[in-house]
Amino acid sequence: MDIRRIVQKLEAAGQSHLLQFWDDLSPEEQADLMQDLESMDFTEINGFFAAAMVSSQASSEKVDSRMEPVPKDVLGSTTRDRDQLKAWEEEGLLRISQNKVAVLLLAGGQGTRLGVPYPKGMCNVGLPSRKTLFQIQAERILRLQQLAEQKHQSKCCIPWYIMTSGRTMSCTKDFFSQHNYFGLKEENVIFFQQGMLPAMDYNGKIILEGKGKVSMAPDGNGGLYRALGTSKIVKDMEKRGMAYVHVYCVDNILVKVADPTFVGFCVQRGADCGAKVVEKTNPTEAVGVVCKVDGRFQVVEYSEITLTTAESRGPDGRLVFNAGNVANHFFTLSFLKDVVNVHEPQLQHHVAQKKIPYVDTQGQLIKPDKPNGIKMEKFVFDIFQFAKTFVVYEVLREDEFSPLKNADSQDGKDNPTTARHALMSLHHRWVLNAGGHFIDENGTRVPAIPSLKDGTDLPIKCEISPLVSYTGEGLEDLLQGRELHPTLVIDENGIHELVKNGV
Ligand code: UTP
Repeated sequence: MDIRRIVQKLEAAGQSHLLQFWDDLSPEEQADLMQDLESMDFTEINGFFAAAMVSSQASSEKVDSRMEPVPKDVLGSTTRDRDQLKAWEEEGLLRISQNKVAVLLLAGGQGTRLGVPYPKGMCNVGLPSRKTLFQIQAERILRLQQLAEQKHQSKCCIPWYIMTSGRTMSCTKDFFSQHNYFGLKEENVIFFQQGMLPAMDYNGKIILEGKGKVSMAPDGNGGLYRALGTSKIVKDMEKRGMAYVHVYCVDNILVKVADPTFVGFCVQRGADCGAKVVEKTNPTEAVGVVCKVDGRFQVVEYSEITLTTAESRGPDGRLVFNAGNVANHFFTLSFLKDVVNVHEPQLQHHVAQKKIPYVDTQGQLIKPDKPNGIKMEKFVFDIFQFAKTFVVYEVLREDEFSPLKNADSQDGKDNPTTARHALMSLHHRWVLNAGGHFIDENGTRVPAIPSLKDGTDLPIKCEISPLVSYTGEGLEDLLQGRELHPTLVIDENGIHELVKNGV
């Protein structure tokens, strides 16, 4: 395409300002900008903007009067349905052993709050093993394959689909390759890329972040559904004979990848779509809740309801809208196919108001201190509304959910320290449940509930490799009656007590 065609295309779309610095650019910069502009469908982008603005106006209205909580008959719970957990787990392991279960990792985010210059999955949160989030997840897959194989005496594989963005694809792939796919087979780790969209000002003008550079961002974790089609991932899943897909976020250090109990619960309920939730206990916690609106399942953000609704409690004293969404989902492949082929184009982008760096008319880079434009995103849960049989599975937060969102700071939330502590405290409980206990440097038994030390609630330093245990199983033979010193690491090579006095 020559420059005249681009000029016409931009004029027609009301985006001619994107070439305002053309004459200042070097030939290479001109070529890069041309390439970027050629790849964009401005009619579609303008359409997305118009629709997103309309739906954002609508979603600024409170939905309280149209909401109902999750009905009991679609709900399963790890605490209230203890008698069924074994059967659900067996169902899940059976499906895994039959090569029917795939996992799909959402790893295309920018991780702006965490602020590290590499993809979030490459973060090591300071565990004794120094393992990264990617490695922990890979090893959980390996262990689960082993558990399913042992139970059903047949070799199996859980393919791992990893969605990245244009910005994170090459370093994510390089990282996996440098680490030999953490023991997984290369052909069973499948990377694909989600779409990107330009940031726009409130008048629908695309923002330039440099004289020759359009400001681009990934199109949200719901960009998944378009990417599944364009990257032919659904076809790949079909070719491999998959029937069920577990979708999760990269940043939850406790995530039970391909959780057989969750998969088994969804399968036994005949669900095409399932959401894992944790109980929301604080009415003002900024977490979306799974509920029904106008009779259809969706996630309602905290900002979309009044405080009175957020605070309302049932006869049992629990919040009425307490199904906290943790972006951890089950889908049948046939449901995903319908979404990709039929429903995806109907999904509107959500509007996120952001402070977007831009070049002014003099070509100076400005970093605004208040929001000056929008990014358009779809969300992974936008498709709940299309489910025919939707189920909800409630799990314990302390066992399954500790996201890494922010950089470390005093009294911070969802940061490397809280993630590390959540994992070590879970593994401490596994050790106790397996009959082991910790002793300190004086030989005194450490209480099961660690005491407050220096005003901080420091967990025992203890880490169990996922290669040894997926969910606390198989530790009794190793630990029954044993006295252990922190820092304790249990891995495929045995038990290591790294520092004998480091409680
Ligand atoms: P978040 O919404 O927390 O975004 O993503 P983030 O990019 O990790 O962090 P911030 O908001 O920039 O600080 C939740 C999950 O969705 C994925 C993320 O990788 C994470 O697993 N995600 C998010 C995508 O895959 N694509 C996107 O476009 C956005």
